[in-house]
Amino acid sequence: EFDNRVKIVEVGPRDGLQNEKTTIPLATKIDLIERLAKTGLTSIEAGSFVSPKWVPQMNNSSEILSHILNNEIPSPVPITYSFLTPNIKGLDAATEILSQHAAASSSQTPEPKVPSLEIAVFASATESFSQKNLNCSIATSLENFRPVIAAAKAFLPDTIPLRVRAYISVVLGCPFEGYDVSPHKVAEIATTLLEMGADEIALGDTTGMGTAPKTKELLDCLWSAGLRSEDVAMHFHDTYGQALVNTLVALEAGIRTFDCSVGGLGGCPYSPGATGNVSTENMVYFLESLGMKTGVDLDAVADVGNWITGEIGKVNESAVGKAVIGA
Ligand code: HMG
Ligand code: MG
Repeated sequence: EFDNRVKIVEVGPRDGLQNEKTTIPLATKIDLIERLAKTGLTSIEAGSFVSPKWVPQMNNSSEILSHILNNEIPSPVPITYSFLTPNIKGLDAATEILSQHAAASSSQTPEPKVPSLEIAVFASATESFSQKNLNCSIATSLENFRPVIAAAKAFLPDTIPLRVRAYISVVLGCPFEGYDVSPHKVAEIATTLLEMGADEIALGDTTGMGTAPKTKELLDCLWSAGLRSEDVAMHFHDTYGQALVNTLVALEAGIRTFDCSVGGLGGCPYSPGATGNVSTENMVYFLESLGMKTGVDLDAVADVGNWITGEIGKVNESAVGKAVIGA
């Protein structure tokens, strides 16, 4: 039976902001998350426990996680909040906050509700990008992720279960190695990450170089290797304007989870020239036009895109967003 529900993963507060050179106040980041929470989104990537030397903008992710735990953020539907944790140090920083919260909550009646939470590790499909983004080889990164995934799964599974997302970057083109990224390598890395316990693989077209035929070739290769469409999410950047075409190819291949960022915010610090993720406004408009159901209120999310781009002094990169608000 045809399933017309699609999950939109809003990555604006993390992928959208991580590359901004001027420090965005914590209050603005929290305001962004709270505004997004009202739009019908069910999944919001909220921060990143990475080295502040590598990505200074994400330095206050601890405060963001604490805020999410200590305040019931109003939302029409339950939301999963996600944070990147590339190593044990990052995971420990996140779980430390969760442990303290759990200890403080256990004495309260009724015990405060904890929102659904997810952590994310991120591998790369090429050796060059792995070195630039994680300072190690693909094989070493995978061995580093094994204990991170295991510890996340073992952490308070009954009270604060942590979902695990595993990204693979540069699957359709690498800033250092070009278009010839092996889909077989992507399949192999994805299989390894699922075997380690990841709940979902997010395939990143980090550079936005991906084309429709390459997307199809990649997904065909994954299915031949035994992966299932329900285990896979697509994470398109729109640098070359191909994100929605590639989304259609992925939809036809059975994928029902798509990442995007409000206002088309973003870029990757280790991918020169990469612009933002495909905008949430464009994605919602496109999917709904196909009869798919995202649950996201287009007007509401367009308002958020207009607000945040103004707030941080960026151009609103979303064509649909601009059209909807009449800009
Ligand atoms: P390293 O230098 O090899 O690690 O970096 P290290 O273990 O030697 O540590 C170096 C320093 O960083 C030490 O501090 C550590 O304590 C600290 P020092 O002793 O020098 O003062 N450190 C940390 N601090 C806070 N949190 C941590 C942490 N780990 C170490 N978790 C490392 C290795 C992985 C840490 C580094 O390469 C890193 O942080 N990389 C992250 C890069 C990043 O965030 N990239 C953007 C996200 S990925 C992305 O955008 C792609 C995606 O959107 C999908 C797509 O589009 O394809 C997901
Ligand atoms: Mg990205």
